[in-house]
Amino acid sequence: MAEEIEWWDYEDAGEWSDALSGDIAFIIESAIDARGSAVIALAGGKTPAPVYEKLAAAKLDWKRVTIIPTDDRIVPLGDPLSNVTGLGKVFIPKGARVVPLVSEKADDYKAAGRAADARLADHHFPLDLVLLGMGTDGHTASIFPGPDFDEAVNGPKERRALGVMPDPLPPEAPVARVTLSAAAIATAQSLMVAISGKEKRAVLEQAIKQGASGALPIGRVLAATELAVDIHWLE
Ligand code: 6PG
Repeated sequence: MAEEIEWWDYEDAGEWSDALSGDIAFIIESAIDARGSAVIALAGGKTPAPVYEKLAAAKLDWKRVTIIPTDDRIVPLGDPLSNVTGLGKVFIPKGARVVPLVSEKADDYKAAGRAADARLADHHFPLDLVLLGMGTDGHTASIFPGPDFDEAVNGPKERRALGVMPDPLPPEAPVARVTLSAAAIATAQSLMVAISGKEKRAVLEQAIKQGASGALPIGRVLAATELAVDIHWLE
């Protein structure tokens, strides 16, 4: 289980996005100071959009920053469901490198996952940061219940990304996915969660309580890490 899980609660959306973007900028700067570059994974979904806008306005040496989505939907680039397209719009103009996990529509989601895993081998690991979001069903990144759940959570440690077919398919984006594995997330240098709303808070508290023996994906991921985890919750 995570060494320590700390909740940071905000009533104000501006304070929430200031705190998160400030913490992420600090991690990027520290990695650039230490190693000359930073590699971070950022959640898709709608919640973190204001955080990314603020982060992009930070004065950082963006040419030294690589951004990977924590997960993506298997759709063509440019599709409204594509997480990397959203990240690219915000961070490519700053000069960051934005690396897709999925670069085209693929019929074989497992092959798409293997291709993503191979592509990630070109990048520095462990990741300097993973910022996770969470769905109200407890999924995080694209670790969902279904036939690939066990592989995503318990797969070989060196497996960084894999294809996932959620079962049931989530109505907001009913497509196969590619996701970072729990191992790739759990071994990052730092781990943060950004969520909002009372419903998600209750689900996350439940997931943490159930931990490694529960069915909720985010509980399993947090149970797999030895890091201290910061949860930034906007009421
Ligand atoms: C995805 C995500 C996913 C996301 C949650 C929450 O692509 O589906 O990366 O894990 O964080 O679904 O999404 P919202 O912030 O839109 O509720």
